[in-house]
Amino acid sequence: MKAPKSPAALRTMALWSEAPRKSRLHTTIRWWTAPFTELELEVPLAGDILEVGCGHGVFTVFLGISSRARRVVGIDIDSDKIALAKSAASGLRPGEAEVDFEVMPAGSVPATEGGWRAIVFADVLYLMHPEDRMAILAACFEALAPGGLLIVKEVDTRPRLKAFVAQFQELLSTRVFRITRGNHLAFPSLKELESLMSELGMSTIAKHIDHGYLHPHCVVIGTKPAP
Ligand SMILES: C[S@@+](CC[C@H](N)C(=O)[O-])C[C@H]1O[C@@H](n2cnc3c(N)ncnc32)[C@H](O)[C@@H]1O
Repeated sequence: MKAPKSPAALRTMALWSEAPRKSRLHTTIRWWTAPFTELELEVPLAGDILEVGCGHGVFTVFLGISSRARRVVGIDIDSDKIALAKSAASGLRPGEAEVDFEVMPAGSVPATEGGWRAIVFADVLYLMHPEDRMAILAACFEALAPGGLLIVKEVDTRPRLKAFVAQFQELLSTRVFRITRGNHLAFPSLKELESLMSELGMSTIAKHIDHGYLHPHCVVIGTKPAP
């Protein structure tokens, strides 16, 4: 568990201070339990960045505030969450960050001229059927610029106790409190993610980014070959 500490993190969270109480609580818990600071360090500092399954948009906005040379787009299937993300981002000062949000149907990956410099997923793939997971990763691969990065953050299935805590919490979010939308619940391991991305022809780096957190957060970074 980590509090928002850096000026970019504090500024990001301040943008949600006027959100309805339930969303404020959700985004605050999300910040404390997700390794956004560690994940941001993996994202290129400049260029067109897409976050798929951005939810309330906290990480999308954090990416934009952390580097003004990034143009960040967040997409999600949940129109209520995108409305909250847009409302929070409307509090950005001119020139503070270049951030945009859009509702997209499941499986869609928007294109950008020249391809995305990076596409990021933060805890989204576990909500998809394995076939849909592969299909969306393949669509992202196509949408990336040559040399672009596919950055996939999930919770690993090991160590088992940490994984159990994370999976139980997600079960509550999706099936009991219905905070999160998704058509499935299946947690891919770090190794499974790495092999999916290798199958696409990407060179990969995989690591745990869970130091100081309750959950076994991990990330796989795949690079699309440049011709
Ligand atoms: C656990 S939340 C994570 C939100 C955000 N990435 C974060 O880190 O705070 C998962 C999000 O994925 C979205 N989602 C589920 N399936 C999706 C799909 N097929 N395409 C895009 N978003 C999806 C859900 O609506 C939800 O907002």
